[in-house]
Amino acid sequence: MKLTDYEQAMYDGVHGRAKARAMDLLVRYGEALSAERLVATNNVAGAFNASTPSVRELVKKGFDAVYSELNLDSKEVVEVPRMAANTCQLITGIDNANWRVQGIPDDLAEQQKRGEEFFGSRGINMFATCTPYQVGNVPVKGEHCAWMESSAVVYCNSVLGARTNTEGKESTGAAALTGRIPYWGYHIAENRRGTHRVEIDIDVDDIMDWGLLGYYLGEIIDDEIPVLTGRYRQPNLIKLKHFGAAAASSGGVEMYHIPDITPEARSIEEAFGGNRVRDTVRYGEAERRAAYDNLNCATDRNVDFVMLGCPHNSIDQVWLIASLLDGRKISANTQLWVHTPRALRDVADRNGYTRMIMDAGGFVMSDTCPAISRHMPKGTRVVATDSAKQAHYLPAITGVSAWFGSVKDCVEAAISGRWEGGLQ
Ligand code: F3S
Repeated sequence: MKLTDYEQAMYDGVHGRAKARAMDLLVRYGEALSAERLVATNNVAGAFNASTPSVRELVKKGFDAVYSELNLDSKEVVEVPRMAANTCQLITGIDNANWRVQGIPDDLAEQQKRGEEFFGSRGINMFATCTPYQVGNVPVKGEHCAWMESSAVVYCNSVLGARTNTEGKESTGAAALTGRIPYWGYHIAENRRGTHRVEIDIDVDDIMDWGLLGYYLGEIIDDEIPVLTGRYRQPNLIKLKHFGAAAASSGGVEMYHIPDITPEARSIEEAFGGNRVRDTVRYGEAERRAAYDNLNCATDRNVDFVMLGCPHNSIDQVWLIASLLDGRKISANTQLWVHTPRALRDVADRNGYTRMIMDAGGFVMSDTCPAISRHMPKGTRVVATDSAKQAHYLPAITGVSAWFGSVKDCVEAAISGRWEGGLQ
């Protein structure tokens, strides 16, 4: 791999041991990918927390040791300096305010808080959400980033037109310290062109529809790049957030184009950029039904737990949930958790939405989600959610069964304790 003089100096330790270990990792990683060089990045979104029981022993050695081992893959413990790139924390395993609701022991919550203080003091912004683009980290078209988290990556590439591969804890840890990441994959313009045409034969309009479309396409297209055409209605941030998250969980979609809507596709021709169309996928009522049936693996209509906010809810989603709950009480047999970034939780508090949800018996949670934390209300067997991603992962990870539906169906399930949702 070719390094610039500055990169070589970092590699040689001129700028300290931490940057030298980071460069060693980036060079090994880049060479494994056949990347010829690194590219400068000033936007890193990674995972720098200490929220799992498995790192308890490591934490005893200090957070320099945690960063060295988990974020630099280094046996040598290096002193962690301030980050070189703008860096933010993605989702963690622990809600800093509601850890007891999650069933997390106090000592682990304390460990997480100490970790946040350390990483925050090194310049890592504690956004603690899988949707950094909802709370101020909005890279511009063409900006090279180093992001983890599949739902954030597909949003970054497709909706914002910024450029990132799906990075890991170690590569984001190294990128944050050096401001560099290997130049390959989605950093390169030619790799961002469409491969598959998708003909949509039915109206795709609400959040649930966009989730079902994403879930269906992910299974068919895997990690290629779909170009949507046909009868979709104008989407917004929320719909594209659900669409991308679903496509990235049933498959490995990291980028898509919607002509006239996403920034690298002013037309269908531009979306393909001269690429041959490898295949055309049709999406109609039968495909929508197939995606819905795949997601709804539950048979028991008694719902123990309703999870809303995967990816983390926007403030208008929190308002919708609050308004559906206004003046009502959720079932004694069901728990409701509404997840939103902490910065938006503050807005929800000030607007009175949190109070409305709590008066109904629900909780507004931040910093985490059940799929990442592996924590749900004790004894949960059946979950209802408006998220195709959460309905995909929770059964696989935790063994629960899931109902998937609209926000309204999920709120009604929380109220009655029964799933009565369905496909319209
Ligand atoms: Fe975010 Fe957790 Fe869903 S990380 S995208 S809320 S699985």
